[in-house]
Amino acid sequence: MQHLTAKAKAVLNSNFNEQQGFTIPCEGLYPFQWHWDSGFISIGFAHYDMEKAKREIKALLSGQWENGFIPHIIFHNDSDTYFPGPDYHQSYLHPAAPKHIKTTGITQPPVLGFVLLELYSIAEDKDHILVFIQEVIDKVYKNHEHFYTYRDPNHEGLVYIYHNWESGTDNSPIWDDIWATIDPPKYKYERKDTTHVDAAQRPTNREYDNYIHLLEIAKKYNYAEEKVTQHSPFLVQDPLFNAILIKSNESLIELYEKLGDAEAKIEMLKSWQKKAKQNFNDKLFNSDLNAYVHYDLRNDRQLPYITSSSFGALFAGVATEENSKKLINTLMQNFVGASLYLCASFDPESDQFNPKKYWRGPVWINLNWMIYKGLKRYGYSEIAQRIKSETVGFIERYGFYEYFDPRKNIENAAYGGNNFSWSAALLIDLLNEK
Ligand code: SER
Repeated sequence: MQHLTAKAKAVLNSNFNEQQGFTIPCEGLYPFQWHWDSGFISIGFAHYDMEKAKREIKALLSGQWENGFIPHIIFHNDSDTYFPGPDYHQSYLHPAAPKHIKTTGITQPPVLGFVLLELYSIAEDKDHILVFIQEVIDKVYKNHEHFYTYRDPNHEGLVYIYHNWESGTDNSPIWDDIWATIDPPKYKYERKDTTHVDAAQRPTNREYDNYIHLLEIAKKYNYAEEKVTQHSPFLVQDPLFNAILIKSNESLIELYEKLGDAEAKIEMLKSWQKKAKQNFNDKLFNSDLNAYVHYDLRNDRQLPYITSSSFGALFAGVATEENSKKLINTLMQNFVGASLYLCASFDPESDQFNPKKYWRGPVWINLNWMIYKGLKRYGYSEIAQRIKSETVGFIERYGFYEYFDPRKNIENAAYGGNNFSWSAALLIDLLNEK
């Protein structure tokens, strides 16, 4: 396994931009700094180069807006291998966006809170890492405050996303129900992703029209959150996004308690948690499917699909005892089988399951990592060990790919970009668990 860790480090090191201090997710396909990628990447670095782990987070926060918003991409550099790139997004339309750097105007799952706690756990010199955490923690807090201020119009403790790219699970079949409610123009643009990766493994052109359409709406309103709330046809309470926010709230509480002198912030975080946990279970649990699902706030309905995002509730510790048992049963019945590795990104029992296409079925290393931690948290050690060894197994067999086919006994089960940073980073974490 030492050999595999060495290879993983080589992937991370070669994707690290020494001059600007951040790591690309994947050469060509994703040539900038991505928000949740950087969080996972930082955890990998923490095991062998804490300075890089810290630089990664600082570089991400250098793109934070004055109002606390953290964008999904920070364009430290130029590159013409990605669409939509730095000039498309026009973050300057919003007065709080930074002047010195281009960013997008959408966000991604708020991983930084729990990432800081991971860094603390991994660090040998706790005093030293606490100095860094003290330096950045209020920025992360401010990001959470932004979510609860602007993205929770009904004061439920559940925040919405207004773009599928904010979920991280870009082309999940869940979004098909929302695409059915809109009819965007056929935009003219040149996709770059399908020049790097087989189009059969990527979203369709019509899906891209939807993605661009949502960005056009946000730009039309200068990314003003209140306007987006009023006008976006896509307003979704995503169970993974909210679980990650809850997990990060919990981590911030723990870290503020260690740092001291932060009673008011701790109280605020606790009150967000209380409401969030209650409504997460009341509103997002679907008792027919026995799983947490997405809620379409614009059309006031649950989107009744089981996805790997459904299991984020275990990672966050937000699932009640009763719901957690039902959820594990669902995992065992639909996702664990003699012919499947864990964990498909979409319900393998569904007609819409596609084991090769991006977020419509393939296994993702970051989701597996979170589900592994969640299963351990709830005491399911056997199935936790299984997901861990299957995760490592994918990388051992194929290398550091972006996503993998959950079906056993097929010839080439590795898809998307190669030398993918978070696959490397989280492998390092799994193999070097304390
Ligand atoms: N993952 C998206 C893409 O494929 C962007 O966040 O372009």
